[in-house]
Amino acid sequence: MDELAIFGGPRTVPQGMVQTWPPLTQEDRDAVLSVFDANILHGTSAPNALALQREFAEWLGVRHCLVTNSGTSALHMAVASLGIGPGDEVIVPAFTYWSTAAAVLHHNAIPVFVDIEQGGWCIDPGRIEAAISPHTRAVLPVHIHGMAADMGPILDIARRRGLRVIGDACQAHGATWGGRKVGTLEDTCGFSTNRSKNLSSGEGGLFVTNDDQAYGVAAKLREFGEVVVRDGEREYNAYGLGWMYRSHEFVNAFCRSQLRHLDRNNATRREFAEFLTAALEQIPGLKGPCKPANREPVYFSYIVEFRPEELGLDVPIASFKAAMQRALAAEGIGLGQWQRVPVPAQSVFQNKQGYGRGCPWSCAFYGREITYRGEDYPVTVDFIARHAYLAGVFPPNTMELMERYVAGFRKVSGRPEALQKLIEQASH
Ligand SMILES: Cc1ncc(COP(=O)(O)O)c(C=O)c1O
Repeated sequence: MDELAIFGGPRTVPQGMVQTWPPLTQEDRDAVLSVFDANILHGTSAPNALALQREFAEWLGVRHCLVTNSGTSALHMAVASLGIGPGDEVIVPAFTYWSTAAAVLHHNAIPVFVDIEQGGWCIDPGRIEAAISPHTRAVLPVHIHGMAADMGPILDIARRRGLRVIGDACQAHGATWGGRKVGTLEDTCGFSTNRSKNLSSGEGGLFVTNDDQAYGVAAKLREFGEVVVRDGEREYNAYGLGWMYRSHEFVNAFCRSQLRHLDRNNATRREFAEFLTAALEQIPGLKGPCKPANREPVYFSYIVEFRPEELGLDVPIASFKAAMQRALAAEGIGLGQWQRVPVPAQSVFQNKQGYGRGCPWSCAFYGREITYRGEDYPVTVDFIARHAYLAGVFPPNTMELMERYVAGFRKVSGRPEALQKLIEQASH
């Protein structure tokens, strides 16, 4: 067997082979250029904004969609449009991108964190009821890494306890639970279309709902609190506090074009992911992601678990992971880190640094002391320690790259003594 690349052997993945996301086509370029031709650059009634909303709602299977300028603004609209505000609590997972919790804070409500499911990475439905207080108004599951949260028990708890359900599907366009797409199961839901997402428009977001009332509130909030009627005269009267969450027509046109490729791109992600997961079953030291029954993921990210014990190495997980990452990086295989700590352990929650002067936690409508401690979420802490994210598991990359990845994993896994040497070198 060849020497590891980190010790001077040949690389498994040639330099420059891994392509970035999203794949761009001439159709995408033409779509953006057509905005110049039409010379309508913005507006909630602009042609691409309206068409994108109609096409995404149709693709998803919901009554209403509003295009916004980010996933965070879509989530903020999803929270606010259900009437959640000062003094209310919303239950969110401790493992997510913190924007989920920020969307709650943006409307003066308080995020209450719950740990993730053992062996998975979405909110643990078994821990939700213990987090419910008289202040709780909603639960906000995140469909993370392209995997739907376990929606059956979550919807059941919400029904029994009178809570609204808000979805964060920023990483999960097309993921299903029980054969139904995420975004159709919740009262309101936000999607991101930022550069990295399964549906990408560079930056952007999509708010969706089947609730007519929530739709009306979200539409006002998106545009300064005004009622902006299509083809009607603008009243210039704000009915309440709103934001400026409109999107640009370049982005809307690009997003429409990308939406046409979404199902095909998701199918390719699945094909690559299933190939890698099956291969990793045979390679000690590494493991691919789980796939719970009843949930069909779209693999926004492909996660890899590190298992030193399978190589007979009695070393701390952090040392093993670092050595593996270094050895694999030298082979041309990128395994990056995402979150570093549970969201409640981030400084914003440790210091309760919101609007200043303790707000919104000190709001008179709340009247409760809440403490955020990272160690209260051990499954999240362990998940973060044991996993990393494999680059390039999407088109325009090809199966040839996946095959090279497997060859690289096999090569490095087959040299535990070399990994031990790297671990010792790092500790000196
Ligand atoms: C789970 C999750 N929620 C929310 C967001 C926020 O989306 P955006 O960056 O478009 O505001 C992201 C992406 O960044 C995300 O991954």
